[in-house]
Amino acid sequence: MKALILSGGKGTRLRPLTYTGAKQLVPVANKPILWYGLEDIIGAGITEIGIIISPETGEEVKAKTGNGEKFGVNITYILQEKPAGLAHAVKVAQPFLGDDSFIMYLGDNIIQSELQTFLETFKKQDLDALIMLRKVSNPSAFGVAKVDENGQVLQLIEKPKNPPSNLALVGIYFFSKTIHEAIDNIQPSARGELEITDAIQKLLDWEKPVKACTLEGWWLDTGKKDDLLEANRIILDTQLSPSVKGEVDEKSQIIGRVQIGTGTKVVNSSIRGPVIIGENCYLENCFIGPYTSIADEVTLIEGDLEHSVVLKGAKISGIHQRIVDSVIGQRAQLGVANMRPKALRFMIGDDCQVELS
Ligand code: DAU
Repeated sequence: MKALILSGGKGTRLRPLTYTGAKQLVPVANKPILWYGLEDIIGAGITEIGIIISPETGEEVKAKTGNGEKFGVNITYILQEKPAGLAHAVKVAQPFLGDDSFIMYLGDNIIQSELQTFLETFKKQDLDALIMLRKVSNPSAFGVAKVDENGQVLQLIEKPKNPPSNLALVGIYFFSKTIHEAIDNIQPSARGELEITDAIQKLLDWEKPVKACTLEGWWLDTGKKDDLLEANRIILDTQLSPSVKGEVDEKSQIIGRVQIGTGTKVVNSSIRGPVIIGENCYLENCFIGPYTSIADEVTLIEGDLEHSVVLKGAKISGIHQRIVDSVIGQRAQLGVANMRPKALRFMIGDDCQVELS
């Protein structure tokens, strides 16, 4: 059994962040989104892992994640020249996958459940595909399944205008080698991509054993800002263990679950968890409210921040209005001159400079 993580694609929905970086490396609770999937796969006992990368962001993904040594696994990077679809990515990965069965994991998905039980079902029932379904309120944004009263999948459609159900396909799939033959027999969709949904539909048409499981627990497709903030909220809520390694002066107050990395200094500030602050940051005269993640090397002076994600090396100073529901890119600089609006909401890309005046 191998695994294939898809970390290519264009990431248009997280622009402007993804103009400059891979969307799968955007951090959730200070850990790249991609690593959540990687750790799930490793937790299921899989050690041969392929990662699909694009020419634009591949080097960054490689540099951050490495050859797998730090995770105790082997990682092989597979270049997909253009984002021609999820099934196209599998095609490109065929030399790596060989005749092995594999888990395919979309690099922007995060789930709460462990993969082990699904893997056991897939193996025990000798399936050609095991898919996961989840009820959603906006099925048109996903692959959608039509199932009969016994839960047997009848039809799969990618992003239908008139969805036949509210059951979305989660971005984690278990496949036998038969999927390669199915992919060889599909055509690009209307949006010009080789869709994995069509390949699974082909397996259904051929009456191959395909099973759908309902996914319990939360599932997040972190493709957009609000989804990213929601993923950040849930992970901080459920997985953050408090620890203070940096320096906190006696005028500061730390309340609730807060993690502060080495080399970080907190001066005359209030931090109300759950909050994670990375290494080598400087915070002075700040209020940091719940569900905030601050990456390494961030400077915050006279800032009031809540339910937000701040990326590496950003600088925020002199903004007295509360910043909420915001994502602030790497090295972005935010300063203020003399205005006092009630609230500020941002999606600020890497290297931006914003001054409110
Ligand atoms: O998140 C679940 C949904 O994921 C499913 O319900 C859909 O059926 C499935 O098609 C997929 O839809 P998305 O529109 O969310 O896929 P997206 O283009 O965002 O790509 C998913 C991941 O795969 C992302 O990390 C980028 C990567 N990718 C994408 C394409 C198109 C590649 O590595 N290569 C590609 O060619």
